[in-house]
Amino acid sequence: MSVSGCTMLDAMPLLPLLLLNTALGFKLCPSHCLCYESSELVDCRSRDLVRVPVSVPHGTWLLDLSGNKLTEVHSRSFVGLWSLKILLMSNNSIQTLQPQSLSSLQFLERLDLSYNRLRWLPQHFSQSLSSLKELQLHHNLLLHLDSTSLGDFENLRKLDLSYNRIQAIDVGALSSLSRLSVLNLEGNRLNVLKDGLLSRQQSLEVLLLSHNNISVIETEALAPLRSLTLLGLRGNQLEHIRFKTFLQLQTTTTHLQMALNRWTCDCELQRVFDKIRRVRHLHVDDYKDIICRAPAQQVGTYLVSLDGHLCIAETASVLIITITVMVAVISTLVKAERNRKNKKPVSDPESERQEK
Ligand SMILES: *[C@@H]1O[C@H](CO)[C@@H](O)[C@H](O)[C@H]1NC(C)=O
Repeated sequence: MSVSGCTMLDAMPLLPLLLLNTALGFKLCPSHCLCYESSELVDCRSRDLVRVPVSVPHGTWLLDLSGNKLTEVHSRSFVGLWSLKILLMSNNSIQTLQPQSLSSLQFLERLDLSYNRLRWLPQHFSQSLSSLKELQLHHNLLLHLDSTSLGDFENLRKLDLSYNRIQAIDVGALSSLSRLSVLNLEGNRLNVLKDGLLSRQQSLEVLLLSHNNISVIETEALAPLRSLTLLGLRGNQLEHIRFKTFLQLQTTTTHLQMALNRWTCDCELQRVFDKIRRVRHLHVDDYKDIICRAPAQQVGTYLVSLDGHLCIAETASVLIITITVMVAVISTLVKAERNRKNKKPVSDPESERQEK
């Protein structure tokens, strides 16, 4: 179908248009926007809009407000838009979502708020967005995810929070997101992957944590993930990992991306990677790119090129230590024995008597 309504109305003078708009109860296209398919698709992209237009038709199911100058979404901005399924607001300057600003959008399935200036999500942000399947919040300024803002996203499949400034996520923050299949947290400032954070994410298939500041993955953190196919951990601060942590991934096939960390290449690290690589369902995709950042003599070396040498050195030093200890023990014993023999005649009156 082609452009309907708007082109004809665009040509009319402004005042009659406004009157018409009011008279027909929002059935017309908002000024500055283009409407398609009997106003079901409303395209208001890049129109320098500073607020959400008031006259969006009630039957609209896609509203595109990308690339405007919105700074705030007011509490009544979308009232009456019962049919809305897709709302696109990326590339604006939104700093504030007023409480209830999205609360009339009970059938919304996709919300794009990427490339804005959000520092936090309002409490109960998810309330009445219970149909939402896809939420894009990448490239904002979010600092923290608390346990209330994502609480009601029971149908969410895809959550993109990449390139924010998130340092901490409350352990309960994701607990209602049991259908989540893609979670993107790349490019944030997370330090720890905590036990319990992913406890409800049995359906999670893709977990992207690259380019954070993660130095610790707690032992049980990955245990709940039964469907994971990709775990991205590139560009973090990992020095060591435990085999057990990864062994907990009871999946069919999981690809791990681990390069660009602060790997300390010692025998233990080599053993852990050897063990992980021997587990049939785990694949370290970028094992060949893993470069040592410590100790000093290994900086810049590829772990794969060390090929067991680290453990040979360790075995050798264990041997040397063992031999040294044994030598010390033996010589002490010998000395003690000699002392005993030397002292015997003097210190043992009974034996003296016997000798006589
Ligand atoms: C990143 O982690 C290190 C410890 O590995 C910590 O000292 C530093 O403060 C962290 N940086 C940020 C921005 O959290």
